[in-house]
Amino acid sequence: MAGRLTGRRAVVTGGAAGIGKAIAAAYLREEASVVIADIDAEIAQGTAEELSEFGTIFAIGCDVTSLAETRSMAAEAIDRLGGVNVLVNNAGLSGRGLITEIPEERIDALLAVNLKGVILCAQAFAQAMYDTGNAVMINMSSQAGKRGWPELSVYGATKAGVLGMNRALAVELAPHVRVNAICPGYISDVGMAWRGWEGRGDASEIGNKFARDNIPLQRLQSADDIANTAVFLASDEAREITGEAINVGGGVVTD
Ligand SMILES: NC(=O)c1ccc[n+]([C@@H]2O[C@H](COP(=O)([O-])OP(=O)(O)OC[C@H]3O[C@@H](n4cnc5c(N)ncnc54)[C@H](O)[C@@H]3O)[C@@H](O)[C@H]2O)c1
Repeated sequence: MAGRLTGRRAVVTGGAAGIGKAIAAAYLREEASVVIADIDAEIAQGTAEELSEFGTIFAIGCDVTSLAETRSMAAEAIDRLGGVNVLVNNAGLSGRGLITEIPEERIDALLAVNLKGVILCAQAFAQAMYDTGNAVMINMSSQAGKRGWPELSVYGATKAGVLGMNRALAVELAPHVRVNAICPGYISDVGMAWRGWEGRGDASEIGNKFARDNIPLQRLQSADDIANTAVFLASDEAREITGEAINVGGGVVTD
C-alpha cells in the first residue's frame, strides 16, 4: 500500500533534532523523500544517517537567518530531491525573559531565527513550489503566538509574526501552494529546560503534574503528536485546508 506522502519531496528546517527530527522520521515512514536543513551540519548528518534505513534522506547545513545560505540550500535540496513540494519551516529558538530584562542579543536572535529565517526560507522556495503546484508549506508557530504568557513576549511576538506571514502567503500562493501553521503546546520530550522546569526535580513528574493542573486533556504533547499533524497537512487528506493555524496543545488554546 502506498504511503500517505508518496511522491512528496520535503525540506524540514531544524530537522536535526526535536520536533523537526520527528517530522522527518514520520515523513519517511509515509514514503516522502526528505532533506533536513539545519545550522548544525554534523548533527543533521548523523540524523540523516540514523533515519536512512526508512527512506531517502539528505542533510544540508544551513543557517536560516542567512539569505545566501537559504538560497543555496534551496537550490541543493531541489537538485538532490528532484524538486521540492513540501517545506516545513520548523527551525526555531526558544527563549524566555521578562520584557524589562531580556537582553538585546536574545531579542535579535529570536527575531532572526524564528521570524526572518521563516520568511527567508519561504522566499527561497516559493517560486519553485508555486511552479510545481500541489505544494504545501507548513510554518511552525506556537500556542505562544496566539495567547499571552509571562516571559514570552519576544518569543510570542516572533510566533505571532509567523501566523501573519502564514495568513498572507495562503492567499498569495493560492491555488498552487497550501500554507498552514502548527501551534504546538507543551512538548514532553523536548523543551523542558527553557520552561524553567529543569533542576526542580524529576522533569516528567513536574510535567505530568503541570499537565493535570493546566491542560484540559491533562497530558503534555510529544514531538510525534506534532509530526502526525505535519503528515496530515502535507497529505492530500488536507487538500481543502489552507491559511489555518492548528493547535496541538491539548486544549490550552481553543481558537
Ligand atoms: N518544544 C516545544 O515545546 C515547542 C512548543 C511550541 C513551538 N515549538 C517550536 O517548534 C520548533 C522546533 O522546536 P524544538 O523544541 O524541536 O527545538 P530544538 O531546539 O529541539 O530543535 C531546533 C532545531 O533547529 C535548529 N536551528 C536552530 N537555529 C537554526 C538556524 N539559525 N538555522 C537552521 N537551523 C537552526 C537546531 O540546530 C535544532 O536542530 C521551533 O520553531 C519551536 O519554536 C516548540
